[in-house]
Amino acid sequence: MSEAPALTIKNLSKTYDNGFSALKGVDLTVPQGGFFALLGPNGAGKSTMIGIISSLFKPTTGSVHIFGNDLLENPSVAKQYLGVVPQEFNFNMFEKVEDILITQAGYFGISAKEAKPRAERLLTALGLWDKRDSMSRELSGGMKRRLMIARALIHKPKLLILDEPTAGVDIELRRSMWEFMQQINIEENTTIILTTHYLEEAEQLCKRIAILDHGEIRINTDMKDLLAQLSVETFVFDISTPLEHPLQLTGVTEVTQPDDFTLEVTLTEGESLNGVFAQLSEQGITIASMRNKSNRLEELFMRLVDKNIQNGDSMKESGL
Ligand SMILES: Nc1ncnc2c1ncn2[C@@H]1O[C@H](COP(=O)(O)OP(=O)(O)OP(=O)(O)O)[C@@H](O)[C@H]1O
Ligand SMILES: [Mg+2]
Repeated sequence: MSEAPALTIKNLSKTYDNGFSALKGVDLTVPQGGFFALLGPNGAGKSTMIGIISSLFKPTTGSVHIFGNDLLENPSVAKQYLGVVPQEFNFNMFEKVEDILITQAGYFGISAKEAKPRAERLLTALGLWDKRDSMSRELSGGMKRRLMIARALIHKPKLLILDEPTAGVDIELRRSMWEFMQQINIEENTTIILTTHYLEEAEQLCKRIAILDHGEIRINTDMKDLLAQLSVETFVFDISTPLEHPLQLTGVTEVTQPDDFTLEVTLTEGESLNGVFAQLSEQGITIASMRNKSNRLEELFMRLVDKNIQNGDSMKESGL
């Protein structure tokens, strides 16, 4: 396969028939290989972008290339590389689970005989093999979501796009779904783009992240660099014995005591967590446990959205 990126989007815009501009000249390149997170608040334009990539509708301007193949000029080739799990269930509710996969394979010129072992492997891995003869409408919500994933993978796409694949899926199942997705990523060398509102998923899985907001890409960077940019972090300490008097800590941005057994310490970049440990220990305070007050990506996201509400479209100059 060529060295072309898995996905290249240039100047992509979409104005819906009612005049609403959902995408405003988006440029995005997703390299081959790992997991890529596309995040953004409700209505940011994520599903619009994915709708264009899956040829559900045409962009107003711009181009999409999948592994170097122009989607608008050469859709049949580009689509061979692509599997999409849309946000809304869109399979035939009156078709049986296994048949849905076999039918899908047919769209890619794969015979039923050839598709069957692959369908069995996918349905087994996603915990749906027992349901293979059930009508799809009889599945639970989480099962329907997994059926969407199995269907998207039947033709071994090199790029898999998942639009909120874990919405409505319980925590345990989510974990096993991601394990499976990681397996596909490694064994089949499939690049995976995902949107999610569970930001911790993006943080754990994705090497790169783009944030879309009001139809524009605000951030496109390495997850590591992004997290490093977040300069303020709050730690919550659970204390073993009650604090008898107000605590004095130096070299921290803020310290609060919500109750006698809890201490919240905010550090800005450059301030040392080790310094906090040392001072607590000097003062004879034993720490039972410690955790981050909130997920850092979540914090960034909130700041992004807050700023946007306050400043209209001036986010770009904010340097975030
Ligand atoms: N068919 C349509 N006609 C007009 N406007 C639309 C249409 N589909 C979506 N929109 C609007 O485009 C904007 C982007 O919607 P989109 O579904 O792409 O957002 P999203 O980022 O996927 O949000 P969510 O996180 O809620 O899924 C929204 O303001 C939405 O109301
Ligand atoms: Mg959406």
